[in-house]
Amino acid sequence: MTPILLFFFLYLNTLYLTRCDATVSGLYKNITSDEDVTETQHATCKIATEELVASARASVTRVLTGACNAKLIDERLQTLEENLCKELKEIKMLLHAITENRKRSTKLANIYNNDYYEDENDGLSSRQSEIDNFNNTIERISSVNGSTSVFFYYWQIKRFDEKLASWKTARSERSSTFYVGQNGYAMYIKVTPRYFPDGTVFIGVGLTRGRHDSILEWPFSHKIRLELLDHSPVQTRQDRRSRIWDPSTLCSEYFWGRPKLTGEPDNPECVGLSASRQVFFPNLPFSIHPLSKTMRYISDRDGAITIKLTVYL
Ligand SMILES: *[C@@H]1O[C@H](CO)[C@@H](O)[C@H](O)[C@H]1NC(C)=O
Ligand SMILES: *[C@@H]1O[C@H](CO)[C@@H](O)[C@H](O)[C@H]1NC(C)=O
Ligand SMILES: *[C@@H]1O[C@H](CO)[C@@H](O)[C@H](O)[C@H]1NC(C)=O
Repeated sequence: MTPILLFFFLYLNTLYLTRCDATVSGLYKNITSDEDVTETQHATCKIATEELVASARASVTRVLTGACNAKLIDERLQTLEENLCKELKEIKMLLHAITENRKRSTKLANIYNNDYYEDENDGLSSRQSEIDNFNNTIERISSVNGSTSVFFYYWQIKRFDEKLASWKTARSERSSTFYVGQNGYAMYIKVTPRYFPDGTVFIGVGLTRGRHDSILEWPFSHKIRLELLDHSPVQTRQDRRSRIWDPSTLCSEYFWGRPKLTGEPDNPECVGLSASRQVFFPNLPFSIHPLSKTMRYISDRDGAITIKLTVYL
């Protein structure tokens, strides 16, 4: 590469000048042009470091001849500097891209392992950046066994505290229909604040009629999981997660088959997550730990709860 060679020769040249100045200074009196400078260098360098210079001589000559040696070197150095700056800039951009990518995949890995650590400064809800990043997305997750795709969906139920307090047994709220990916299955989540008279809360998930049903495979065979998200800071967080349900081993085709073409669009829910009332209103009057006084699952901002659905594709 020219820049490296150039440096090498410059170095040689300096070496020569320092070594030869004293011994052969007489020659300088006879210098009439730059070409002569070159000749002089050849002669004296032979004395100093004969072998080394012999091999480099041709190139040194090339670099140092001409009327504007200093100017030429200056220019070359400038070009070198510019190129270096340009390359450094590119490297910086590359590094930036790589870090961004890494950040996202770390987030993804954490969210997958239920260990998501968002920026604590988002101020809204402590789960908001997770939702912003992953709601309604399909993500590829690499593991030792290769990679799998996972669909995430988040549903927020507003003023859940009121519903929990006042809704009669079996009254429920259904999410809007959403699709698992672009041409995927249509699904819904349904929450029943008082599923049994004792107040058990039930969050179910099911299939519903969708635009792509005719091209999809039936029965639905993807494993799914539901979670009730904890809004507390990550250190004390305890999301309530269901196990991973496998449709092929749970319920019948009545639940996982293609939804009916007419009439009620929703298949009934086969699986769901249930939680007792105490989960939502922990009764810990004697606790001195400040966090245990706050509600984990109900947002103290707007009384909402957040459900997360994972579909393993
Ligand atoms: C300068 O070089 C010429 C030959 O190129 C030589 O005749 C002359 O003696 C030299 N002068 C000095 C001062 O060395
Ligand atoms: C990888 O595959 C093996 C055997 O198929 C299975 O037991 C294991 O749980 C898989 N690991 C992951 C991380 O999926
Ligand atoms: C997730 O995305 C869907 C579709 O864009 C949206 O309707 C829903 O409100 C989002 N969920 C949350 C918790 O923001």
